[in-house]
Amino acid sequence: MSKHLARARAYEETAERSVPPEERPVFHLSPRIGWLNDPNGFSRYRGEYHLFYQYYPYDTRWGPMHWGHAVSTDLLRWKYLPAAMAPDQPYDKDGCFSGSALELPDGKQLIWYTGVLKDQAEQQKGFQTQHAAIGDGIDYQKVTDDPGLTVKDLPEGADPYEFRDPNIRMEEDGYALVVSNLNRVHGTQILQFRSKDGLDWTFDRVLIENQDCIGRMWECPDYFPLDGKQVLLISAMDMQEETPDFHRGNNTLCMIGDMTENGSFQRSTLQTVDHGTDFYAAQTVLSPDGRRIMIGWMQNPAVDTSGCSRKIFGQMSLPRELSVRNGKLIQSPIRELEQLRSEGTSYSDVRLDEEDRSLPKIRGRVLDLEILLKPEESCQTFRCRFARAGEQFTELSWQPKTGILTIDRSKAETIGTEVMMRQTKVCPEDGNLRIRLILDRTSAEAFVEEGRSVMTTTFYTQPEAEEITFSAEGGARMDITAYRLCSRDI
Ligand code: FRU
Repeated sequence: MSKHLARARAYEETAERSVPPEERPVFHLSPRIGWLNDPNGFSRYRGEYHLFYQYYPYDTRWGPMHWGHAVSTDLLRWKYLPAAMAPDQPYDKDGCFSGSALELPDGKQLIWYTGVLKDQAEQQKGFQTQHAAIGDGIDYQKVTDDPGLTVKDLPEGADPYEFRDPNIRMEEDGYALVVSNLNRVHGTQILQFRSKDGLDWTFDRVLIENQDCIGRMWECPDYFPLDGKQVLLISAMDMQEETPDFHRGNNTLCMIGDMTENGSFQRSTLQTVDHGTDFYAAQTVLSPDGRRIMIGWMQNPAVDTSGCSRKIFGQMSLPRELSVRNGKLIQSPIRELEQLRSEGTSYSDVRLDEEDRSLPKIRGRVLDLEILLKPEESCQTFRCRFARAGEQFTELSWQPKTGILTIDRSKAETIGTEVMMRQTKVCPEDGNLRIRLILDRTSAEAFVEEGRSVMTTTFYTQPEAEEITFSAEGGARMDITAYRLCSRDI
């Protein structure tokens, strides 16, 4: 084991003891210590889910990337394993960036990831190349005698500094891999490679180019079949416009289409995966019972954590079950979450008006809420304010007349972010709004209209802010059930 990895493993083992337990979300994966960004290598291996993550153990800021590692059988209760990789090779000495993993037929686990090496002439830039590591679920050996995938393997015009996030999958007759690249002529694109053994790759095709100029660079591709369609997830950097469908900044997008006879991807729809402030770099895994499950980094990449006094920063989203209905991606919280429920409290036909109102026993920061909102004809705005203490709260609001749904954390405590609010449009056919709101200490994920729209946000409001209030200017009735999500076994 390299001295870099040995140091990281020794450090995390001791330093994790300094994390105050209340700093950790209960059932969302957070870093063992320090900083976490993208999910990596989300896969099944020897009967468990493995989730690696972009990791800088030594501080709560982004730094030379390691791979952190955790395993779970239900995707909610995670067990940390020692850090899997550290930047310790000539080609990855400035970072082991994102990648993927799978179980090989010989029982080993194969990782493909991006190695970064700073350009001596242009210090701001790093050469990005793809490399393999093979392991047993705990220890990994980097495949150092193979050049991996470099700019030489790419079509003309490829930028060697923007080439990353290989995502490998098993096919009937071998393996395929998609990877992000910036082409100096065509802009950003997703490339596909094929291989017989998962190690030696041949360029197959440009899977898709950025025809509509959405974002400057696409990162973290994941490409899979779902409900008779082909789905491509990408995370787009620096998007420009703000509309109810697309948001300025960095966003995970989903393209749904078909695979043509010759194996190319024909896109028919494009949508934002999450309309909240914090969801990026998503990856998926197939569960043994055939569910396609997605997890994302529950954070807006535009974050500055300098001066952050916490011991850990960054968390994964709740794993979400995906499906395609009428050409749209639908997301539901994984059903395993229901096993964490205890103590349900229900109210029906609660009359709401413009006064903020709380309900006995509906309070807390680790909750699963099911809300059915039935606005009256005159209803202007419904508001649900949670993680509340007086005038400090995060708010989910909806205007039945326009359909505008807003998540707003401008009255919450936040860390290093300027993105305070996001909006989308939801117009249910029967005029009533269904919301499933999942809170886990410092996050809220709202699955609206059975997962047709999702809004995710994080906030770092003091833990005592446990109040939840409801109001509806112009009048509405509400049915609500709240479940505590118990942490007994976690
Ligand atoms: C996405 C990303 C990836 C890269 C990683 C580095 O958040 O920029 O493209 O591999 O983070 O940490």
